[in-house]
Amino acid sequence: MKFFVDTAEIDQIKELNDLGMVDGVTTNPSLIAKSGRDILEVTKEICSIVDGPVSAEVVSLTADDMIAEGRKLAKIADNIAVKVPLTWDGLKACKTLSDEGNMVNVTLCFSANQAILAAKAGATFISPFIGRLDDINLDGLELIDDIRTIYDNYGYETQILAASIRSANHMSECAKIGADVATAPANVIKSMANHVLTDKGLAGFMADIEKAGIKIL
Ligand code: G3P
Repeated sequence: MKFFVDTAEIDQIKELNDLGMVDGVTTNPSLIAKSGRDILEVTKEICSIVDGPVSAEVVSLTADDMIAEGRKLAKIADNIAVKVPLTWDGLKACKTLSDEGNMVNVTLCFSANQAILAAKAGATFISPFIGRLDDINLDGLELIDDIRTIYDNYGYETQILAASIRSANHMSECAKIGADVATAPANVIKSMANHVLTDKGLAGFMADIEKAGIKIL
C-alpha cells in the first residue's frame, strides 16, 4: 500500500519524505487554508520535494471552471493529480482532464455507486472518506472493501485512495482490504510506530543497561 501524506505543511512532508514514508501528497482547500499560503506557490514547493503524485483540488463548481482550473494546476508540475469533487460536473471535468492525459483524483466519495462512476470517467484515484462516514455512524472501512470488490470484479484500473483516515487502525485495515493508497495526516503515519509493549520492553532494557553499565560508544 502506498502512503500519501494529507497535508500542505512543508516540514511534515520533508520529514516523512526523507524516511521514505511518502509516495505522494494530498491537499484540499481546508489544508491549503490552514497552511496560510498561496495555493499555486505551496503546491509547486510540494511537487519539488516529492516525486509521486501531489493532489491539488479545484475550487469551483461547474465543469468548465473545474477544467480550466485543472489545466492551470496541471501546469505546475508533471506529478500533479487534479482533484475534483464527486459531483456530476466533477465527473465531467474528470473525463476531460483524464482524456487530456492528466492524473485525476475524484474526492468526497461516500458510496460504491459514486466510485463506479469515477472509474468510468477515467479517474486515476478515487478518494472514499473513511473517517467522515464513521462520524455519522456508518462504516468507512466497509466502503473501502465494497469498492475493492467492485473494481476487482470488472478490472477497473482506478486506484483506491483511502482518505479521511483518523487512526493507525484505519491504516492497517486499509492495507488488509487492499486499498492501493492510504492518505493520512503525518501524526497518524507516525503513530503507526507506537506500541505499549515496545515502550514497556524498552523501559525494561534501559533499566538493565543502567544497572549493568552497558556501553557501546
Ligand atoms: O483530503 C481529504 C481527507 O483526507 C480529509 O480528512 O479528516 O478532514 O475528514 P478529514
